[in-house]
Amino acid sequence: MSYHKPKLIAGFIISLWSFFLCLVPVRALAGAQTEIRFVNWKSQFPKVWVEALAAFETQNPGLKIVQEIGPHSSTEFHDLVTQKLKNRDPAMDVFFMDVIWPAEFAAAGWALPLDRFFAATEREKFLAAPVLANTYRGQIYGVPVFTDAGMLYYRKDLLARYGFSPPRTWPELVAQAKTIVAQEQDPHLTGFSGQFKQYEGLICNMMEYILSNGGSLWDEDALQGTLHHPKVIEAVRFVRDRVIGEISHRGVLAYQEPESLASFSQGRAVFHRNWPYAWEIANDPKRSRVAGKVGITVLPAFPGGKSVSTLGGWQLGISRFSRKPDPAWKFVSFMSSLQMQKRIALFAGRAPARRALYRDPDVLKKRPEFESELDVFVNAVPRPRTPVYIPLSNIMQRFFSSAIAVRDSNIESLARLASRDMNRVLDLLRERTRP
Ligand code: GLC
Repeated sequence: MSYHKPKLIAGFIISLWSFFLCLVPVRALAGAQTEIRFVNWKSQFPKVWVEALAAFETQNPGLKIVQEIGPHSSTEFHDLVTQKLKNRDPAMDVFFMDVIWPAEFAAAGWALPLDRFFAATEREKFLAAPVLANTYRGQIYGVPVFTDAGMLYYRKDLLARYGFSPPRTWPELVAQAKTIVAQEQDPHLTGFSGQFKQYEGLICNMMEYILSNGGSLWDEDALQGTLHHPKVIEAVRFVRDRVIGEISHRGVLAYQEPESLASFSQGRAVFHRNWPYAWEIANDPKRSRVAGKVGITVLPAFPGGKSVSTLGGWQLGISRFSRKPDPAWKFVSFMSSLQMQKRIALFAGRAPARRALYRDPDVLKKRPEFESELDVFVNAVPRPRTPVYIPLSNIMQRFFSSAIAVRDSNIESLARLASRDMNRVLDLLRERTRP
């Protein structure tokens, strides 16, 4: 009996060891994985992002991406990301930035300067405007993943039925819409859908009317509010009385991009203002009742003015509070690579931020119009680049919203108040040197 005892003890120890080994996660044995926390914005093509993250993890077995998905609205997404940055939260490594944020994030010390990763020679491969938007006092803070520019979508079939060419001026658009809606006698059909809810998209839409009428959001040299100037008032009144008053459903006052696009895709609007990705959804028979009947062109201007398309787009930044900037860069570099931007263009309809893709045969086969639209993307007008953009935007959002939502709003007096409030914010910039 005593002869077997050591064997029994050894056997017992071995089984105990194996038992504990089973409890240890396999990956701990294979070498610890580094988690990168990515705060992503809610896309209308979630599958493309899920696949992109999976591809990154396959190529980088030591790295795992933990994704947090924020709201679709740029304004609400800004609140989420800046809250984490204000808290110096190390649990966010990489985040998406709207094209209007890098100056603010740089000035606040929230975004990591990427100069050591994102070489000047590499930056040249991107469109100039998004790169400039990511540059603040000579340093670069984000890598553009896609660019955006406002476009006019229209019902090719309906315009053809009435012998119309796409409108070149806003009054012409209203006139065409009224004729078509009156003749079609479809109780659901309206003339126009755009984004008129109180959020950042409202600024993008209103800016296109105001600038194409020769007005401006504010005077960037004199640092003075200009919303009370006659050209601005005229454009805002046009939106209230004609675009919303005559040819849209009042529901547009609550629309962001997805709702306004849904209305167009359901065949409820003759004209629609949106970013380039809307093409993909409007022409997908599974998601749209007007697939194949959609045209796309530049936005109209006011008579004597020039068409203006707001520059939009999203970039990846790395948090200054991340404890993993090197792996975080690996991820940013992967997501903004030529291959990824190509996938995002092909499967999410996004306009690439990399120039070479505008000559790529696969991209052009799927989206031949990108070739001519490149001109619109290159000439799109950026919202002013300043660290105080968000407080200025909030004042403008309130003004535009109250001016257009109420039929007899006193636009002049609301505009004077808004300009006065903007002047207070702009005064903060007098002390600073310009970016
Ligand atoms: C798009 C644009 C962004 C803009 C936003 C407004 O996401 O890319 O720049 O601020 O729309 O809704």
